[in-house]
Amino acid sequence: MEQKSPIRNNPTEPFNDLPALPPVGIELETPEILRHLAKAARYIGELNGLCESMPDPQLLINSIVLQESKDSSAIENIVTTNDELYKAAAGEISGHPAAKEVLSYREALYSGLDRMNSQKGLLLTNTLVEIVQKIKQNDAGIRNTPGTALKNAIAGEIVYTPPCCEEVIREKLEDLEQFINDPSLSPLDPLIKMALIHYQFESIHPFIDGNGRTGRILNVLYLVQQGLLSQPVLYLSSYISKYKAEYYALLKQVTETNNWNDWIMYFLSGMIETAQSTTKKIRRMLELKVQYEQSMKELLGSSYNHQLLELMFTHPYLKIEILENKQLAHRQTASTWLKKLSDAGVLLQEKKGRTIYFINHKLVEILAAD
Ligand SMILES: Nc1ncnc2c1ncn2[C@@H]1O[C@H](COP(=O)(O)OP(=O)(O)O)[C@@H](O)[C@H]1O
Ligand SMILES: [Mg+2]
Repeated sequence: MEQKSPIRNNPTEPFNDLPALPPVGIELETPEILRHLAKAARYIGELNGLCESMPDPQLLINSIVLQESKDSSAIENIVTTNDELYKAAAGEISGHPAAKEVLSYREALYSGLDRMNSQKGLLLTNTLVEIVQKIKQNDAGIRNTPGTALKNAIAGEIVYTPPCCEEVIREKLEDLEQFINDPSLSPLDPLIKMALIHYQFESIHPFIDGNGRTGRILNVLYLVQQGLLSQPVLYLSSYISKYKAEYYALLKQVTETNNWNDWIMYFLSGMIETAQSTTKKIRRMLELKVQYEQSMKELLGSSYNHQLLELMFTHPYLKIEILENKQLAHRQTASTWLKKLSDAGVLLQEKKGRTIYFINHKLVEILAAD
């Protein structure tokens, strides 16, 4: 195979020469990529069709978004267990700091989506700044001091130094913003563009911290912006977690040897795999919901409450206070309902600290599955 000449080989120098998108002089639409692209588009279409056929997609998607928040944070070593996370989501305030950061991620994702929608679907630099501020719960903006470098986790050596500083970064973000929002700049397929955009954002690395996570939120917002998804439901983080070494190696290879082909292939493979697994998860959740509706009608008779069924899917860990706060029922009734459901094995009752949770354990299992 023909050896590509390195475009850059000093990882300790700020990469101020990072070129704007799209890459020039490189064939991106190779037969291999086009075949993968067609497959990815088909599976994403299937997933989106399924979401569009659901009467209330947000109901199930919320827990997928939470799972993504956990996976994307875990790539950055912000690790929480499902148990910690669902307790925090159920309102436990003394929770684990990592679990809180994961909840902030979810909030950042939703607010980014709202912001994009309120700006006629434009994805602007400011929105990315707002996203990172929400994730990190601080008001740090774009880096304005040198010193940010990416290090190898094992040896600690510098593997990449992003551009410096604020003025240069802002210029590069402006170019990226244009590439994202102006389709006339490049005729490439949005899925290929998404891979380019993710590389570019990570390479600009505009913030001191939170770049990986903001870049992964940007991915899903872009899919929605491009109309490939009507709900924010498809994420690469579980795939990236599984093939993390490759994720880092390929980012580096694009910089050093212009190896766009393997980066795009990695991305498309991730889309194919995760679109299929998400479709499967949603189908299983829908089945579980039908099954629970049936059992609840049998168990609760005329006091069957549809909102309770819905709550069991938006809150994998339920507690009596949640039913009270949502004004579904008074304490006594709420407690009777949940007790009946746990006695029948629909929910799993567990005391954790001083709180009693009623856990939708089958949902938790589905969400955690590969
Ligand atoms: N060689 C590289 N070039 C560009 N970006 C990289 C490289 N290696 C890793 N990254 C990106 O940097 C991210 C980590 O940056 P960081 O700001 O710490 O994100 P977070 O706080 O979300 O932890 C990784 O998830 C990856 O997306
Ligand atoms: Mg970090």
